[in-house]
Amino acid sequence: MERTKLAVIGCGNIGRYHLNHFKKMDDVQVVGVCDVIADRAEAFAAEVSCPAFTDFRRMYDAVRPEAVFIGIPPYCHGEVEFETIARRIPMFVEKPVGLEPEQFLAIRDMVRKAGLITASGLQLRYESNIPVLKRFAQNHRIVEASLTRIGGIPDTPWWKVRAQSGGQLVEQTIHQADMMRNVMGAEPVEVFSFGGKDVVKGIPGFDVEDTSVSVVRFDSGALAVMTTGCYAEGAECADNKLTFGAVDARADYYMFDKVAVYGEAEEPAPGGANAEVVKGDGRMVSTGAAKIYRPEGDCGMRCDHTFIEAVQTGDPSKIQSPYEDAVKSVLFTLACNESMETGRAVKVNTAL
Ligand SMILES: NC(=O)c1ccc[n+]([C@@H]2O[C@H](COP(=O)([O-])OP(=O)(O)OC[C@H]3O[C@@H](n4cnc5c(N)ncnc54)[C@H](O)[C@@H]3O)[C@@H](O)[C@H]2O)c1
Repeated sequence: MERTKLAVIGCGNIGRYHLNHFKKMDDVQVVGVCDVIADRAEAFAAEVSCPAFTDFRRMYDAVRPEAVFIGIPPYCHGEVEFETIARRIPMFVEKPVGLEPEQFLAIRDMVRKAGLITASGLQLRYESNIPVLKRFAQNHRIVEASLTRIGGIPDTPWWKVRAQSGGQLVEQTIHQADMMRNVMGAEPVEVFSFGGKDVVKGIPGFDVEDTSVSVVRFDSGALAVMTTGCYAEGAECADNKLTFGAVDARADYYMFDKVAVYGEAEEPAPGGANAEVVKGDGRMVSTGAAKIYRPEGDCGMRCDHTFIEAVQTGDPSKIQSPYEDAVKSVLFTLACNESMETGRAVKVNTAL
């Protein structure tokens, strides 16, 4: 079998994640790696026996890749994508695909015009339990949703600078914001967000919100709350999950882990565990047992290989998050940033 010739731009954390996947795939060959920091590119190159570059244009000229994985920080996007599209090289771009709407919408338009195969790194779209959640959303009208994502501070220097990372909601919690759009099949139309900067202390240059809470109205009528923070010092500080709530059922999603569906199990819960609900007559009743769905396989590997398969076959239909759609989740989270800055509700238009 002919192996697909891949290039990698950005040999940092996420570049390493993808490289580890490629090493396990027998239908790809990494033919070139590039990082503006030469040592990083050379370290990757030594692992997969290919040339290292510090200039992606030179790499393209020299190795003529059939597809590229772009894993550069949020503030570095632009010229790499414009050149990649001009050369008609299918591209996988890490999330968030940029911070400047003018720029990423122009890239989106060029992608459309070129009819180029693209994908983004919103890998939770490839979780094996997404069909369970989508089925839940089809069978029950979701009236409210909520997400909590609390964590620590990544060690990359750019993450701590709002102008470079976009802040936690844009850089990290975008995965969960995107999952709300994906599962509900709905688009956000208005957001209101509060951000705080009063918990994390003593990190030079740190200016991202360390806490934030956003309320969202979707075009389906559903309301949502998104809570995120980067102050965690221990896993006990939060129960990170997404909840999709209907009037008679709910589905809880735990990242990279199970889905628990309440309201569909036949057996009642033993002994009144879980949340209790006040009925109209004042009675408290117990939640029924949950149906638990465990994840299968590695969604990150599936995410990468789906893109590669699309390049091999010319059929992009299995790609769950093409560039064009990934743009919408950035617009969503950037609107929350705008609301934090202005203190006002902000309309979101993902159909731009
Ligand atoms: N999908 C996911 O789950 C996931 C997980 C982690 C990070 N990410 C995303 O990946 C992106 C990168 O994050 P990271 O943690 O790998 O950052 P990083 O700083 O560890 O690595 C990025 C690398 O890109 C290089 N670079 C920047 N501009 C370049 C250019 N023009 N040409 C060549 N190299 C260039 C930098 O020198 C750096 O080595 C971010 O957008 C982040 O949000 C996604």
